[in-house]
Amino acid sequence: MVLRVGVVGGGQLARMMIAPAVELGVDLRVLAEEEAMAASLAASAVGDYRDADTVLAFARDVDVVTFDHEHVPQDVLAALVQAGIAVHPGPGALRFAQDKLVMRARLAELGMPQPDWAAVSTTVELQEFLDEHGGRAVVKTPRGGYDGKGVRVVSAASEADDWFAALAEDARGGALLVEELVDFSRELAQQVARRPSGEVAVYPVVETVQRDGVCAEVLAPAPHAGDRLREVAAGIGVAIAEGLEVTGMLAVELFETTDERLLVNELAMRPHNSGHWSQDGSVTSQFEQHLRAVLDLPLGDPAPRAPWSVMINILGGPARGGLDERFAAAMAEHPDAKVHTYGKTPRPGRKVGHVTVSGEDLDDVAYRARAAASSFLD
Ligand SMILES: Nc1ncnc2c1ncn2[C@@H]1O[C@H](COP(=O)(O)OP(=O)(O)O)[C@@H](O)[C@H]1O
Ligand SMILES: [Mg+2]
Repeated sequence: MVLRVGVVGGGQLARMMIAPAVELGVDLRVLAEEEAMAASLAASAVGDYRDADTVLAFARDVDVVTFDHEHVPQDVLAALVQAGIAVHPGPGALRFAQDKLVMRARLAELGMPQPDWAAVSTTVELQEFLDEHGGRAVVKTPRGGYDGKGVRVVSAASEADDWFAALAEDARGGALLVEELVDFSRELAQQVARRPSGEVAVYPVVETVQRDGVCAEVLAPAPHAGDRLREVAAGIGVAIAEGLEVTGMLAVELFETTDERLLVNELAMRPHNSGHWSQDGSVTSQFEQHLRAVLDLPLGDPAPRAPWSVMINILGGPARGGLDERFAAAMAEHPDAKVHTYGKTPRPGRKVGHVTVSGEDLDDVAYRARAAASSFLD
Protein backbone atom coordinates (compact mmCIF):
# COMPACT_ATOMS: atom_id res chain seq x y z
CA MET A 1 0.00 0.00 0.00
CA VAL A 2 1.25 3.46 -0.83
CA LEU A 3 1.94 5.70 2.16
CA ARG A 4 0.17 9.04 1.98
CA VAL A 5 1.37 12.23 3.66
CA GLY A 6 -0.71 15.41 3.65
CA VAL A 7 1.18 18.69 4.05
CA VAL A 8 -0.75 21.78 5.13
CA GLY A 9 0.81 24.82 3.46
CA GLY A 10 2.18 25.23 -0.05
CA GLY A 11 5.48 27.04 0.52
CA GLN A 12 9.02 26.02 -0.35
CA LEU A 13 9.32 23.63 2.59
CA ALA A 14 6.39 21.57 1.28
CA ARG A 15 7.88 21.86 -2.22
CA MET A 16 11.18 20.39 -1.06
CA MET A 17 9.42 17.37 0.49
CA ILE A 18 8.23 16.42 -3.01
CA ALA A 19 11.55 15.07 -4.31
CA PRO A 20 12.21 12.65 -1.42
CA ALA A 21 8.53 11.63 -1.48
CA VAL A 22 8.87 10.69 -5.15
CA GLU A 23 12.07 8.77 -4.42
CA LEU A 24 10.47 6.81 -1.58
CA GLY A 25 7.22 6.31 -3.46
CA VAL A 26 5.28 8.25 -0.84
CA ASP A 27 2.10 9.89 -2.11
CA LEU A 28 2.58 13.52 -1.01
CA ARG A 29 -0.44 15.79 -1.07
CA VAL A 30 -0.41 19.49 -0.34
CA LEU A 31 -3.14 21.83 0.87
CA ALA A 32 -1.96 25.08 -0.70
CA GLU A 33 -3.22 28.53 0.26
CA GLU A 34 -3.49 29.67 -3.37
CA GLU A 35 -3.23 28.31 -6.90
CA ALA A 36 0.29 29.38 -7.83
CA MET A 37 2.53 28.44 -4.93
CA ALA A 38 5.96 26.91 -4.48
CA ALA A 39 4.50 23.45 -3.80
CA SER A 40 1.71 23.67 -6.37
CA LEU A 41 3.08 20.77 -8.37
CA ALA A 42 1.89 18.51 -5.53
CA ALA A 43 -1.18 20.52 -4.57
CA SER A 44 -4.20 18.27 -4.35
CA ALA A 45 -6.28 20.97 -2.73
CA VAL A 46 -6.40 24.74 -2.43
CA GLY A 47 -8.03 26.29 0.60
CA ASP A 48 -7.86 28.07 3.92
CA TYR A 49 -5.89 26.20 6.59
CA ARG A 50 -7.79 28.14 9.27
CA ASP A 51 -11.05 26.47 8.24
CA ALA A 52 -11.61 23.14 10.00
CA ASP A 53 -13.90 21.70 7.30
CA THR A 54 -11.37 22.47 4.56
CA VAL A 55 -8.53 20.83 6.47
CA LEU A 56 -10.66 17.85 7.51
CA ALA A 57 -11.73 17.23 3.93
CA PHE A 58 -8.08 17.39 2.81
CA ALA A 59 -6.93 15.08 5.61
CA ARG A 60 -9.58 12.42 5.18
CA ASP A 61 -7.59 10.18 2.85
CA VAL A 62 -4.00 10.57 4.03
CA ASP A 63 -2.13 8.51 6.64
CA VAL A 64 -0.64 11.49 8.44
CA VAL A 65 -0.96 15.26 8.35
CA THR A 66 2.11 17.45 8.70
CA PHE A 67 2.97 21.07 8.00
CA ASP A 68 4.89 23.59 5.92
CA HIS A 69 4.38 26.21 8.67
CA GLU A 70 3.19 26.45 12.27
CA HIS A 71 0.12 28.64 11.78
CA VAL A 72 -2.72 26.10 11.72
CA PRO A 73 -4.99 27.15 14.62
CA GLN A 74 -5.30 24.89 17.64
CA ASP A 75 -9.05 24.37 17.14
CA VAL A 76 -8.42 23.07 13.61
CA LEU A 77 -5.67 20.76 14.91
CA ALA A 78 -8.01 19.54 17.67
CA ALA A 79 -10.70 18.76 15.08
CA LEU A 80 -8.20 16.62 13.15
CA VAL A 81 -7.18 14.68 16.25
CA GLN A 82 -10.84 14.29 17.22
CA ALA A 83 -11.53 12.79 13.80
CA GLY A 84 -8.86 10.16 14.45
CA ILE A 85 -6.33 11.61 11.99
CA ALA A 86 -2.62 11.24 12.80
CA VAL A 87 -1.08 14.73 13.13
CA HIS A 88 2.70 15.21 13.42
CA PRO A 89 3.88 17.31 15.09
CA GLY A 90 0.78 17.15 17.28
CA PRO A 91 -1.13 20.14 18.65
CA GLY A 92 0.42 19.72 22.11
CA ALA A 93 3.92 20.19 20.67
CA LEU A 94 2.99 22.77 18.04
CA ARG A 95 1.64 25.28 20.53
CA PHE A 96 5.21 25.82 21.76
CA ALA A 97 6.24 26.78 18.23
CA GLN A 98 3.13 28.92 17.66
CA ASP A 99 3.56 31.31 20.56
CA LYS A 100 6.95 32.55 21.76
CA LEU A 101 5.60 33.36 25.25
CA VAL A 102 4.21 29.85 25.69
CA MET A 103 7.57 28.54 24.45
CA ARG A 104 9.62 30.67 26.88
CA ALA A 105 7.50 29.56 29.85
CA ARG A 106 7.81 25.87 28.93
CA LEU A 107 11.55 26.07 28.23
CA ALA A 108 11.99 27.64 31.66
CA GLU A 109 10.15 24.66 33.20
CA LEU A 110 12.47 22.32 31.31
CA GLY A 111 15.48 24.21 32.67
CA MET A 112 16.70 25.20 29.20
CA PRO A 113 19.17 28.10 29.00
CA GLN A 114 17.52 31.19 27.51
CA PRO A 115 17.83 34.97 27.45
CA ASP A 116 16.21 36.87 30.33
CA TRP A 117 12.62 37.45 29.27
CA ALA A 118 9.26 38.71 30.46
CA ALA A 119 5.68 39.00 29.28
CA VAL A 120 4.71 42.68 29.18
CA SER A 121 1.22 44.08 28.68
CA THR A 122 1.90 47.78 29.17
CA THR A 123 4.58 50.34 28.34
CA VAL A 124 5.21 50.70 32.08
CA GLU A 125 6.10 47.01 32.33
CA LEU A 126 8.29 47.27 29.25
CA GLN A 127 10.05 50.31 30.68
CA GLU A 128 10.75 48.39 33.91
CA PHE A 129 12.38 45.59 31.89
CA LEU A 130 14.43 48.14 29.94
CA ASP A 131 15.58 49.80 33.19
CA GLU A 132 16.70 46.42 34.53
CA HIS A 133 18.57 45.50 31.31
CA GLY A 134 20.76 48.46 30.47
CA GLY A 135 18.11 50.42 28.56
CA ARG A 136 17.89 48.18 25.47
CA ALA A 137 15.91 45.03 24.79
CA VAL A 138 14.29 42.98 22.05
CA VAL A 139 10.49 43.10 21.82
CA LYS A 140 8.68 40.34 19.93
CA THR A 141 5.10 39.71 18.94
CA PRO A 142 4.52 36.22 20.35
CA ARG A 143 2.57 34.90 17.36
CA GLY A 144 2.83 34.92 13.59
CA GLY A 145 6.33 36.42 13.19
CA TYR A 146 8.93 35.14 10.71
CA ASP A 147 12.10 36.39 9.01
CA GLY A 148 12.48 39.14 11.63
CA LYS A 149 8.96 40.49 11.13
CA GLY A 150 7.67 40.83 14.68
CA VAL A 151 11.14 41.42 16.19
CA ARG A 152 12.29 44.90 17.21
CA VAL A 153 15.26 46.19 19.19
CA VAL A 154 14.02 49.06 21.37
CA SER A 155 15.66 51.55 23.69
CA ALA A 156 12.44 53.29 24.74
CA ALA A 157 9.14 51.69 25.75
CA SER A 158 7.26 54.00 23.36
CA GLU A 159 8.89 52.22 20.41
CA ALA A 160 6.43 49.36 20.92
CA ASP A 161 3.35 51.60 21.16
CA ASP A 162 1.88 50.35 17.88
CA TRP A 163 2.20 46.72 18.98
CA PHE A 164 0.56 47.45 22.34
CA ALA A 165 -2.26 49.23 20.48
CA ALA A 166 -2.71 46.18 18.22
CA LEU A 167 -2.85 43.94 21.31
CA ALA A 168 -5.62 46.09 22.79
CA GLU A 169 -7.67 45.57 19.62
CA ASP A 170 -7.03 41.83 19.50
CA ALA A 171 -9.89 39.92 21.12
CA ARG A 172 -7.39 37.45 22.57
CA GLY A 173 -5.57 40.33 24.27
CA GLY A 174 -2.37 39.02 25.72
CA ALA A 175 1.12 40.37 26.03
CA LEU A 176 4.32 41.02 24.13
CA LEU A 177 7.52 39.08 24.75
CA VAL A 178 10.52 41.15 25.80
CA GLU A 179 14.02 39.66 25.93
CA GLU A 180 17.43 40.88 26.95
CA LEU A 181 19.47 41.99 23.92
CA VAL A 182 21.87 39.05 23.76
CA ASP A 183 25.50 39.86 23.10
CA PHE A 184 26.10 36.90 20.82
CA SER A 185 29.26 36.03 18.94
CA ARG A 186 27.22 34.02 16.44
CA GLU A 187 23.97 32.18 15.86
CA LEU A 188 23.72 28.42 15.63
CA ALA A 189 20.97 25.95 14.87
CA GLN A 190 20.53 22.43 16.18
CA GLN A 191 18.23 20.07 14.32
CA VAL A 192 16.79 16.88 15.74
CA ALA A 193 14.34 14.45 14.14
CA ARG A 194 12.05 12.47 16.41
CA ARG A 195 9.50 9.84 15.52
CA PRO A 196 6.32 9.12 17.48
CA SER A 197 7.77 5.90 18.87
CA GLY A 198 10.66 7.89 20.35
CA GLU A 199 13.72 7.36 18.13
CA VAL A 200 15.76 10.53 17.61
CA ALA A 201 18.39 11.48 15.01
CA VAL A 202 20.70 14.41 15.74
CA TYR A 203 22.15 16.59 12.98
CA PRO A 204 25.46 18.38 13.42
CA VAL A 205 25.05 21.86 14.91
CA VAL A 206 25.40 24.53 12.19
CA GLU A 207 26.21 28.23 12.11
CA THR A 208 23.53 30.51 10.67
CA VAL A 209 24.09 34.07 9.51
CA GLN A 210 21.09 36.38 9.62
CA ARG A 211 20.91 39.68 7.71
CA ASP A 212 18.05 42.03 8.63
CA GLY A 213 16.46 39.16 10.56
CA VAL A 214 16.55 36.83 7.52
CA CYS A 215 18.75 33.74 7.24
CA ALA A 216 21.39 34.50 4.60
CA GLU A 217 23.99 31.72 4.99
CA VAL A 218 24.46 28.42 6.78
CA LEU A 219 27.84 26.81 7.46
CA ALA A 220 27.58 23.10 8.20
CA PRO A 221 28.86 21.90 10.55
CA ALA A 222 29.47 25.04 12.63
CA PRO A 223 33.16 26.00 12.29
CA HIS A 224 35.33 25.91 15.43
CA ALA A 225 32.79 23.78 17.25
CA GLY A 226 34.59 21.68 19.82
CA ASP A 227 33.25 18.52 21.44
CA ARG A 228 31.74 20.44 24.35
CA LEU A 229 29.81 22.89 22.16
CA ARG A 230 28.53 20.07 19.96
CA GLU A 231 27.45 18.02 22.94
CA VAL A 232 25.71 20.90 24.69
CA ALA A 233 23.84 21.87 21.50
CA ALA A 234 22.81 18.27 20.82
CA GLY A 235 21.73 17.87 24.44
CA ILE A 236 19.52 20.95 24.22
CA GLY A 237 17.99 19.73 20.95
CA VAL A 238 17.20 16.26 22.28
CA ALA A 239 15.90 17.58 25.61
CA ILE A 240 13.49 19.89 23.79
CA ALA A 241 12.40 17.26 21.24
CA GLU A 242 11.65 14.82 24.05
CA GLY A 243 10.40 17.34 26.61
CA LEU A 244 7.88 18.85 24.17
CA GLU A 245 7.19 15.49 22.48
CA VAL A 246 8.00 16.90 19.07
CA THR A 247 7.45 14.56 16.12
CA GLY A 248 9.11 15.26 12.76
CA MET A 249 11.94 17.74 12.35
CA LEU A 250 12.73 20.20 15.15
CA ALA A 251 15.09 23.15 14.72
CA VAL A 252 16.38 24.95 17.80
CA GLU A 253 17.80 28.39 16.99
CA LEU A 254 20.61 29.21 19.41
CA PHE A 255 22.78 32.14 20.39
CA GLU A 256 26.41 31.47 21.25
CA THR A 257 27.26 34.26 23.68
CA THR A 258 30.57 36.07 23.88
CA ASP A 259 31.11 34.27 27.20
CA GLU A 260 30.55 30.92 25.44
CA ARG A 261 27.11 29.94 26.67
CA LEU A 262 24.33 28.63 24.43
CA LEU A 263 20.90 30.23 24.80
CA VAL A 264 17.74 29.11 23.03
CA ASN A 265 16.32 31.75 20.68
CA GLU A 266 13.32 29.99 19.16
CA LEU A 267 11.93 26.71 17.85
CA ALA A 268 10.61 25.48 14.52
CA MET A 269 8.76 22.17 14.24
CA ARG A 270 9.21 21.42 10.55
CA PRO A 271 12.11 21.43 8.12
CA HIS A 272 14.02 24.68 8.57
CA ASN A 273 16.21 26.98 6.49
CA SER A 274 19.20 26.01 8.67
CA GLY A 275 18.89 22.45 7.34
CA HIS A 276 18.74 23.03 3.59
CA TRP A 277 22.44 22.08 3.33
CA SER A 278 21.41 18.51 4.23
CA GLN A 279 19.71 18.01 0.83
CA ASP A 280 23.13 17.82 -0.79
CA GLY A 281 25.49 17.58 2.17
CA SER A 282 24.16 14.82 4.39
CA VAL A 283 23.24 11.16 4.05
CA THR A 284 19.60 11.91 4.88
CA SER A 285 18.16 15.30 4.01
CA GLN A 286 15.90 17.03 6.52
CA PHE A 287 13.01 16.70 4.06
CA GLU A 288 13.36 12.93 3.71
CA GLN A 289 13.90 12.70 7.46
CA HIS A 290 10.73 14.67 8.16
CA LEU A 291 8.70 12.26 6.00
CA ARG A 292 10.26 9.24 7.70
CA ALA A 293 9.66 10.69 11.15
CA VAL A 294 6.01 11.67 10.65
CA LEU A 295 5.33 8.24 9.10
CA ASP A 296 7.01 6.67 12.17
CA LEU A 297 9.56 4.91 9.97
CA PRO A 298 13.15 4.27 11.14
CA LEU A 299 15.22 7.44 10.78
CA GLY A 300 18.07 7.90 8.33
CA ASP A 301 21.68 8.76 9.06
CA PRO A 302 22.05 12.54 9.52
CA ALA A 303 25.85 12.45 9.10
CA PRO A 304 27.49 14.88 6.65
CA ARG A 305 28.75 13.43 3.37
CA ALA A 306 31.56 15.99 3.07
CA PRO A 307 33.63 17.82 5.68
CA TRP A 308 31.89 21.12 4.88
CA SER A 309 28.71 22.31 3.22
CA VAL A 310 27.76 25.95 2.78
CA MET A 311 24.22 27.03 1.88
CA ILE A 312 23.55 30.53 0.57
CA ASN A 313 20.00 31.81 0.26
CA ILE A 314 19.07 33.59 -2.95
CA LEU A 315 17.34 36.63 -1.46
CA GLY A 316 15.40 38.76 -3.92
CA GLY A 317 16.80 37.34 -7.16
CA PRO A 318 17.29 39.32 -10.36
CA ALA A 319 15.35 42.57 -10.78
CA ARG A 320 14.04 41.37 -14.15
CA GLY A 321 13.32 37.88 -15.37
CA GLY A 322 13.17 34.52 -13.61
CA LEU A 323 15.98 32.58 -11.98
CA ASP A 324 16.03 30.14 -14.90
CA GLU A 325 17.25 32.88 -17.21
CA ARG A 326 20.48 32.77 -15.18
CA PHE A 327 20.84 28.99 -15.31
CA ALA A 328 23.10 28.76 -18.36
CA ALA A 329 25.69 31.19 -17.00
CA ALA A 330 25.50 29.95 -13.40
CA MET A 331 25.74 26.30 -14.35
CA ALA A 332 28.61 26.86 -16.78
CA GLU A 333 30.61 28.74 -14.19
CA HIS A 334 29.71 26.68 -11.11
CA PRO A 335 29.24 23.03 -12.03
CA ASP A 336 29.90 22.10 -8.40
CA ALA A 337 26.96 24.13 -7.06
CA LYS A 338 23.60 22.53 -6.28
CA VAL A 339 20.93 25.03 -7.26
CA HIS A 340 17.44 24.93 -5.71
CA THR A 341 14.66 27.25 -6.81
CA TYR A 342 11.21 27.65 -5.28
CA GLY A 343 9.09 28.65 -8.28
CA LYS A 344 8.52 32.08 -6.74
CA THR A 345 8.57 35.43 -8.53
CA PRO A 346 11.69 37.41 -7.54
CA ARG A 347 10.96 40.38 -5.28
CA PRO A 348 13.39 42.37 -3.10
CA GLY A 349 14.33 40.38 0.01
CA ARG A 350 12.16 37.38 -0.88
CA LYS A 351 13.63 33.88 -0.42
CA VAL A 352 13.41 32.50 -3.96
CA GLY A 353 16.01 29.74 -3.83
CA HIS A 354 19.32 28.62 -2.41
CA VAL A 355 22.64 27.18 -3.49
CA THR A 356 24.73 24.58 -1.66
CA VAL A 357 28.36 23.65 -2.26
CA SER A 358 30.15 20.86 -0.36
CA GLY A 359 33.83 20.02 -0.13
CA GLU A 360 37.04 19.66 1.82
CA ASP A 361 38.11 23.22 2.52
CA LEU A 362 35.71 25.57 4.29
CA ASP A 363 37.04 28.84 2.85
CA ASP A 364 36.98 27.44 -0.65
CA VAL A 365 33.51 25.93 -0.25
CA ALA A 366 32.10 29.18 1.17
CA TYR A 367 33.70 31.22 -1.62
CA ARG A 368 32.29 28.96 -4.33
CA ALA A 369 28.82 28.88 -2.76
CA ARG A 370 28.67 32.68 -2.49
CA ALA A 371 29.89 33.11 -6.05
CA ALA A 372 27.31 30.66 -7.39
CA ALA A 373 24.45 32.30 -5.46
CA SER A 374 25.48 35.75 -6.68
CA SER A 375 24.94 34.60 -10.29
CA PHE A 376 21.25 34.88 -9.46
CA LEU A 377 21.47 38.45 -8.18
CA ASP A 378 22.00 41.71 -10.07
N1 LIG B 1 17.12 38.43 22.40
C1 LIG B 1 17.79 38.71 21.28
N2 LIG B 1 19.01 39.31 21.34
C2 LIG B 1 19.70 39.62 20.21
N3 LIG B 1 19.27 39.37 18.97
C3 LIG B 1 18.07 38.77 18.83
C4 LIG B 1 17.27 38.40 19.97
N4 LIG B 1 16.15 37.81 19.52
C5 LIG B 1 16.22 37.80 18.17
N5 LIG B 1 17.37 38.38 17.74
C6 LIG B 1 17.78 38.52 16.32
O1 LIG B 1 16.63 38.61 15.49
C7 LIG B 1 16.54 37.46 14.63
C8 LIG B 1 15.08 37.05 14.46
O2 LIG B 1 14.51 36.75 15.73
P1 LIG B 1 13.60 35.45 15.93
O3 LIG B 1 13.06 35.46 17.33
O4 LIG B 1 14.36 34.27 15.52
O5 LIG B 1 12.40 35.79 14.96
P2 LIG B 1 11.84 35.10 13.64
O6 LIG B 1 10.65 34.33 14.11
O7 LIG B 1 11.48 36.25 12.76
O8 LIG B 1 12.93 34.23 13.07
C9 LIG B 1 17.41 36.40 15.31
O9 LIG B 1 17.86 35.43 14.39
C10 LIG B 1 18.53 37.27 15.86
O10 LIG B 1 19.44 37.64 14.83
MG1 LIG C 1 14.21 32.90 13.97
